[in-house]
Amino acid sequence: MRLTTFTMVLLLAACWSGAALATPKADAKKAHTVMQQKCTSCHGQDKIDAALKAGKDLTVIQKEMERKGARLNANERDVLGIYWSQNPLKQKK
Ligand code: HEC
Repeated sequence: MRLTTFTMVLLLAACWSGAALATPKADAKKAHTVMQQKCTSCHGQDKIDAALKAGKDLTVIQKEMERKGARLNANERDVLGIYWSQNPLKQKK
């Protein structure tokens, strides 16, 4: 069920950010590898970065992209889910 997966990702993200405060970069690296493999065949990383900067909900956009043809396995979904939830590019006000 999608909602359950999403809740689990959120929980994971919550645990992860508490447990690994010292190494926040490692996950962004993984996420970028996934994006380079699975997302940049149709458009550039710039499109994704722009959406992150604008504070858009990438969880929703990712589902749209999967409908368009992006193929993600469960692990890649987790990696991206954590990355979206942390959104290192979002402008802090
Ligand atoms: C099969 C081709 C394809 C793949 C693979 C793909 N996209 Fe897209 N994406 C598009 C197209 C086409 C658009 C522009 C049309 C639109 O915005 O709906 C787009 C637009 C976007 C946008 C801008 C949407 C907005 O509202 O700002 C983002 C962000 C994005 N993609 C992220 C991703 C991510 C993340 C992945 C990997 C999980 C991905 N895309 C994989 C085709 C793809």
